[in-house]
Formats: sequence, C-alpha cells, structure tokens
Amino acid sequence: MLVSIALTALAVLPSTNALVREDGVGKLPALGWNSWNAFSCGVDEDKIMTAANEIISLGLKDVGYNYVNIDDCWSIKNARDNVTGQIVPDPTKFPDGIKGTADKIHALGLKIGIYSSAGTETCAGYPASIGVEELDAATFASWGIDYLKYDNCYVPSNWTDQYVACVPDGTNGQVFANGTCPIANTTAPATYDWSTSNTAERYRIMRNALLAQNRTILYSLCEWGQAAVPTWGNSTGNSWRVTGDITPDWPRIAQILNENSFLLNAVDFWGHNDPDMLEIGNGALTLEENRSHFAFWAATKSPLIIGTALDALPADLLDILKNEYLLAFSQDGTFGKPAEPYKWGTNPDWTFDAEHPAEYWSGQSEKGTLVLALNTWNVTANREIVWSEVPHLEPKRRGRGGDAFQVTDIWTGEDLGCVQYAVNKSVNSHDTIGFLVGDGC
Ligand SMILES: *[C@@H]1O[C@H](CO)[C@@H](O)[C@H](O)[C@H]1NC(C)=O
Ligand SMILES: *[C@@H]1O[C@H](CO)[C@@H](O)[C@H](O)[C@H]1NC(C)=O
Ligand SMILES: *[C@@H]1O[C@H](CO)[C@@H](O)[C@H](O)[C@H]1NC(C)=O
Ligand SMILES: *[C@@H]1O[C@H](CO)[C@@H](O)[C@H](O)[C@H]1NC(C)=O
Ligand SMILES: *[C@@H]1O[C@H](CO)[C@@H](O)[C@H](O)[C@H]1NC(C)=O
Ligand SMILES: *[C@@H]1O[C@H](CO)[C@@H](O)[C@H](O)[C@H]1NC(C)=O
Ligand SMILES: *[C@@H]1O[C@H](CO)[C@@H](O)[C@H](O)[C@H]1NC(C)=O
Ligand SMILES: *[C@@H]1O[C@H](CO)[C@@H](O)[C@H](O)[C@H]1NC(C)=O
Ligand SMILES: *[C@@H]1O[C@H](CO)[C@@H](O)[C@H](O)[C@H]1NC(C)=O
Repeated sequence: MLVSIALTALAVLPSTNALVREDGVGKLPALGWNSWNAFSCGVDEDKIMTAANEIISLGLKDVGYNYVNIDDCWSIKNARDNVTGQIVPDPTKFPDGIKGTADKIHALGLKIGIYSSAGTETCAGYPASIGVEELDAATFASWGIDYLKYDNCYVPSNWTDQYVACVPDGTNGQVFANGTCPIANTTAPATYDWSTSNTAERYRIMRNALLAQNRTILYSLCEWGQAAVPTWGNSTGNSWRVTGDITPDWPRIAQILNENSFLLNAVDFWGHNDPDMLEIGNGALTLEENRSHFAFWAATKSPLIIGTALDALPADLLDILKNEYLLAFSQDGTFGKPAEPYKWGTNPDWTFDAEHPAEYWSGQSEKGTLVLALNTWNVTANREIVWSEVPHLEPKRRGRGGDAFQVTDIWTGEDLGCVQYAVNKSVNSHDTIGFLVGDGC
C-alpha cells in the first residue's frame, strides 16, 4: 500500500535532526486550545481571553493544557505595514495588538500560538508568509509567540510539487479499499525522496526562520498529510497534519482514525502525527463518540488541541478532556511510541476501512499497558480483550487461569483487582472501553 511504501522509505532515510529543544518543548504532544473549530473566522481578544481564563478556572491548566492558539483571521486583511512590511494585527479584534494579548496570556502562566500559511494568503485570504518567512518569524517572536500553526493555502504555482502523494482520505482523489491510489501518476517512483519536494522545502524555510529566533516556537505543520509528510515531518516540525480537515461527526472521526492507524511508525518523542484538532463539544457527537474521539487522539499521541467554546462546555465533556489515565499516557516521559492496533476486530488485520477502523489497541506507559477496545458499529456489541493477545503483557504465571493482571478502568477509575484471562464487555455503539493493565497477579 502507499502507506507502507512511505513508512519503508522513512526507515531507510538517514537519521535527521528532529526539532529537539533544550527546554523540552515539542518532546511530548502539545496540549491546548485553538479558536478555529469553535469560532472559525470570528476570533478576537475577548474570545481568546475567555478561553485562557476558562483553561485556568476549569482546571485544564492543572492537568497540562497550556497553549492558547489564535487561528486564521487575526490580522488586517489586505495589507501589511507599509513601512516595516510586518503583518498588522486587526486593531478592532486585538486592540492591544497580538503582543498585548500575549502579555495577558503569559501573565496567566499560559503560552500563545498564532497562525499563518506557507502560501501568499491564509486559507481565509489574509496575509501569509511565503517569501517573507524571516520577517514573519521575527515578528511573531517579538510579540512573544510560543507556537505556530502553518497552513497550506494559496501555494504559488512555481512551488507546485513534481508528484502528488495520495492522502488516503481522498483529498487527492479516490482510494481503493486497501488505501492505495488508483491513478498511477498520483504517486511518485518508489525510490522518490519526498523530503526533496517543494512542499517539504516550503515548510523547511519557515522551520529555519523559527529556529533563528531567540525564542522557542513550537512548529505545527498543517499541510494536510500531503507530500508523504510522515517521511520528513520529524526533521521539520514538532507535529504534522496527516489528513484533511476534521469535521464534528463520527464518520469523519472514524475515517481519520483509520488513516492514522497506518501511519503510526512516524510517531515518537519530538515528532507527532496530527489528525487535526479536537471536536469534542461541537457538532452532533454522542457521549460515546466524544469519549472515543478523545481516547484515540490521546492514545495515538496526537496534539490535544481543544476546539470548543469552553464557557459552554458540559461537565461530562470536561471530565473526558481531563481524563487522568489518557493524559498520563499522552504525556508519558519514558515511552514515546503511540498505542497501536493489535487486532482489527471487525476486519482482518491491516484492512483499510473508513467505517470500521482497527478496534483493539494497546500501548506501553510508565504506569502499565493502556488497552482500548472500540465498537465501530451502529449497534451495541461485545468487545473481548484477551490478555494473551495483548503485546507486552508479562503474566506472573502462564496456563489455565494463570493469565491474570491488575486492571483499572480508565473511565471510572475503578480498580478491578486481579482479572483473569480477559475482559468481556458490552460496548455501546461507537464507544470505547479502556483499561490500564498493570502487573501480573
Ligand atoms: C489495491 O487494490 C487495487 C484495486 O483493487 C489493486 O489493483 C491493487 O493491486 C491493490 N494494491 C495492493 C498493494 O494490494
Ligand atoms: C502607510 O500606511 C498608513 C496607515 O497605516 C497611511 O496613512 C499611509 O498613507 C500609507 N503610506 C503609503 C505610502 O501607502
Ligand atoms: C518561486 O518564485 C519565487 C519568487 O520569484 C522564488 O523566490 C522562489 O524560489 C520560487 N520557487 C521555486 C520552488 O523555485
Ligand atoms: C497523469 O498525469 C498527466 C499529467 O498531469 C495527465 O495528463 C494524465 O491524464 C494522468 N494520467 C492518469 C491515468 O490520470
Ligand atoms: C535571548 O533572550 C534572552 C532572554 O529573553 C536574553 O537574555 C538574551 O540576551 C537573548 N539573546 C540574544 C542573542 O538576543
Ligand atoms: C524523531 O526524532 C527524535 C529526535 O532525534 C527521535 O527521538 C525520534 O525517535 C524520531 N522519531 C521517529 C519516529 O523516528
Ligand atoms: C458530545 O459532544 C457533542 C458535541 O460534539 C455535544 O453536543 C454533546 O452534548 C456531547 N454529549 C454528551 C452526552 O455530553
Ligand atoms: C452507521 O451510521 C452511519 C451514519 O448514520 C451510516 O452512514 C452508516 O451507513 C451506518 N452503518 C451501518 C453499518 O449501518
Ligand atoms: C462475552 O460475553 C458475551 C455476552 O455475555 C457472550 O455471548 C460471549 O460468548 C462472551 N465471549 C466469550 C469468549 O466468552
């Protein structure tokens, strides 16, 4: 499949410098909030400060959420400063400039993010950074910016890539059920090194501009998974989008999970696949879908960027966003690898299926093995987690009844004690059961 070709290429590329910073920024998945999924273009300082204050008062800062990120539409639309050439913050939306907002965010002990595009305009048509990367990076640094989300709109025609890498959600056309692209020339020769593509170069120019600043700015690539970014993202940014945009509905969330499940070899400390920002609290998800969305974004070590109006967040959703077991897995300092499927469940292993992604997942952490089981169906179904199938578990003794482990339910925090053989539970449509599995007993 296309995806395995990309990952094979990753394995043979010379080891490259990831964005390893002395202050540790970017080592773990970023935790924070962004304005886009809640407010799209309607961003202003009031909304940013409301989010920042809610991050404090809801206890989200206490559990690690620290970035408050301004997305598109923050500047004057049709001009830069005619003397300095800098992007000018919209004085109506940000009366004290972005610097003024940044000072207020920093005073709360939080960090601030901004947004631009590796093109001539942002996606909403505001000034963007291609050709003026150094100036914009220096401007962002002078304002006190800590995070840049760098989008992919309005790419000039002379920067087009020689080849088109299929993104398996059909962003660049249809895909077969096995995830490959049907049109032969949407893929490059198998030996092609995508780090030499114009797309990779556009994103490297901004990386270099950010690294030249006397300030750590986390670099979040938003190029929609194109140009086989998992093969060069680690040497370019701290995280990289792997798909087109998320929408607040279960079919899209399941589709993205399916795609990302084939790309997880690229994830470790300092470099993270980004399956896009969280939709928890938006659209028409059920409680079960909200829960599964968060569980799998945390388990795959994705950036966890909340995208809803926090002053209207229901208590049960806040509980999901603050789940101590999932956040501990996401932010684990010893194990950098994400959870991965150990069994597809509905489908044979390694089947590419947007509606029925892999259902049985596990990953190692300091506190034990996180095990998740998802019901991808529209009806209630049983999910059975059999210890002998789960990688990395080491039973105290084998044999009949000997396969037993200390188990904690990640949703209720209930200590289930020493559980023999398996957990077998009825799971609601689109819900996920999850357990932290500890020592053999
Ligand atoms: C993927 O499916 C297509 C269409 O069925 C087929 O032509 C192609 O050979 C398959 N590729 C792989 C790698 O299985
Ligand atoms: C530069 O911009 C200022 C206001 O921002 C305006 O008053 C002035 O006329 C502009 N100068 C030129 C040469 O466009
Ligand atoms: C595209 O044109 C711009 C402006 O002339 C130039 O700076 C840039 O290097 C060109 N890009 C490529 C990939 O040649
Ligand atoms: C391959 O790309 C070329 C140039 O873009 C186009 O003319 C041709 O129709 C494409 N072939 C297929 C099978 O899509
Ligand atoms: C970089 O910033 C630090 C702290 O803000 C400052 O002490 C130092 O002088 C700066 N270095 C340069 C080369 O500007
Ligand atoms: C990305 O680079 C960092 C730092 O060199 C390294 O620790 C990590 O393992 C790399 N990620 C992958 C998937 O190789
Ligand atoms: C789940 O999130 C949706 C928005 O995505 C929200 O409307 C709904 O109230 C949430 N479900 C529950 C039970 O809280
Ligand atoms: C499940 O529900 C979705 C959304 O209503 C629908 O598109 C899909 O066909 C259903 N799948 C099954 C297997 O019933
Ligand atoms: C799991 O539980 C269901 C419902 O009680 C039962 O039908 C099924 O046989 C159980 N599975 C196993 C392997 O015991």
